[in-house]
Amino acid sequence: MTISGNARIAGIMGWPVKHSRSPRLHNFWLDHYGIDGVYVPFPVEASGLEAALHVLSKLGIAGVNVTVPHKERAFRIVDETDETARRIGAVNTITVAGDGHLAATNTDSYGFTEALRARAPGWDPASGPAVVFGAGGASRAILVALQDLGVAEIRLVNRTRERAEALVDELGVPLIAVPWAERESALQDVGLLVNTTTLGMQGQPPLELGLDDLPEAAVVNDIVYAPLHTPLLRAAGQRGNIVVDGLEMLLHQARPGFRAWFGHKPEVTEALRRFVTEDLL
Ligand code: ATR
Repeated sequence: MTISGNARIAGIMGWPVKHSRSPRLHNFWLDHYGIDGVYVPFPVEASGLEAALHVLSKLGIAGVNVTVPHKERAFRIVDETDETARRIGAVNTITVAGDGHLAATNTDSYGFTEALRARAPGWDPASGPAVVFGAGGASRAILVALQDLGVAEIRLVNRTRERAEALVDELGVPLIAVPWAERESALQDVGLLVNTTTLGMQGQPPLELGLDDLPEAAVVNDIVYAPLHTPLLRAAGQRGNIVVDGLEMLLHQARPGFRAWFGHKPEVTEALRRFVTEDLL
């Protein structure tokens, strides 16, 4: 890796930030493309976020990703947001413009869509309803992506029903809130199933879900990436469904930021997946 006095600098602000895989993946790309630049973790507490963002331009930093717990707060601090970020109500990618103002977007929807394109190229948004589990921040970005893809019916299943109903009210058609108790019958006729809950993550219980009603042609996407093969993906894979793991979305959501800060559109390759996966074992 080359880091000269002229190096471009970007990074990620989070609290805690030490578990973030973003430094590993951006620095892989910097090395791979021979770019004079560096991507570093910035451990920033909530109380320090505003000051940290406002100092970026003074330090000559090209931009940052923001992660938990900063995505919603950062949305309110930056100078400019795009329509996707406004629909999601959160940002994850901030670029420092030439005059120092902060322009932000949310690339999670893009990451989700590109992950499906890459790993389930045969999936057709018109193939049937989609069912989405979970109504947190990650879910919002995915629901916006599914709306943009033109899915005609999106069934939103969440343990806390009011949270699903609030999201349905906010985002509108074609969302429908489905009670948690009806999660298995909600699988009927779907073309896509997405888990955005924390169930199945290391140290968490699995998502208890009988897949008998799930069509064999449905694609199953779990955005949990630690472990890479969640109990849901294993069960779906064993019955012949095409599965998409959470690493793919993580890698694709990073691409627009890298391009904006370092001037090169990076590709998601098997070598990158292997490099980031080594860190997940
Ligand atoms: P993120 O921003 O990453 O999406 P989040 O906002 O904490 O995270 O959302 C976590 C999601 O996982 C929520 O949909 C949550 O359901 P509730 O809204 O009912 O809290 C879901 N979740 C977490 N633990 C769960 C469990 N044991 N059973 C069912 N759903 C669970």
